[in-house]
Amino acid sequence: MFSPQGPSLRELVVQALSSVERGYDLLAPKFDHTPFRTPDNVLGATADALRPFGPFGEGLDVCCGTGAGVRALRPLCQGRLTGVDFSTGMLAQARQAHPDVEWVRAEVRALPFVETFDLAVSFGALGHFLPTERPLLFSKVYRALRPGGMFAFPIAAPLPLTSVSYWTLLGFDIVMRVRNAVWRPPFIMYYRTCPLQAVRRDLTEAGFTVTTAPLAALGRREDGSPRYRLVLARRP
Ligand SMILES: C[S@@+](CC[C@H](N)C(=O)[O-])C[C@H]1O[C@@H](n2cnc3c(N)ncnc32)[C@H](O)[C@@H]1O
Repeated sequence: MFSPQGPSLRELVVQALSSVERGYDLLAPKFDHTPFRTPDNVLGATADALRPFGPFGEGLDVCCGTGAGVRALRPLCQGRLTGVDFSTGMLAQARQAHPDVEWVRAEVRALPFVETFDLAVSFGALGHFLPTERPLLFSKVYRALRPGGMFAFPIAAPLPLTSVSYWTLLGFDIVMRVRNAVWRPPFIMYYRTCPLQAVRRDLTEAGFTVTTAPLAALGRREDGSPRYRLVLARRP
């Protein structure tokens, strides 16, 4: 699962027993060698699906980590690119990899932007927010976008009960729930808390007009439906 340059099991355990912010600070130097960094094929498929809606002006990567999302934003945006994250360690890596991008340290539930961006993306981060926190997060992204701006992120289709991945992710979420019941500070990261229907409802309540587009390049399930869709939330 991890390359030799990735974190050791001991490092992962220490990180998982920290807060989300501290955990990512510790993981940052090795993050790009873990499967948690969004892979290039997902970034490429996202850029391809967004291209017909562009070109965009200024772009924002929400929970940018080490800056993977810049690869999707760069070919789509003609204006300035910004990444926002609360982990100083992750931002330091991002700054080193993409010095021309503006990197902002902020809690995204208190996103400090008003009508600034034309496109916002987010990769691999929704599981860090409890369902009750999503409306606040989405309202802050809505406020950060200019009227007509778009918020886009990939979302996986539900896994079949018969797949190994279904049971792996269920097992992960159960371990994290037990960990968070007995250990402080909490590390919120659950894979199974963001079904499309609930995400769509929360985005709509925040004021977005929501559609989705298939990310067919990322594969299909046995019934032929796409394994991933891109959520396209437009600020009217
Ligand atoms: C799994 S990483 C994803 C990084 C990157 N988007 C990618 O796909 O490779 C999740 C990121 O979300 C950030 N994050 C989580 N909760 C956050 C919050 N409440 N405010 C700001 N950043 C947050 C973490 O610091 C971490 O860098």
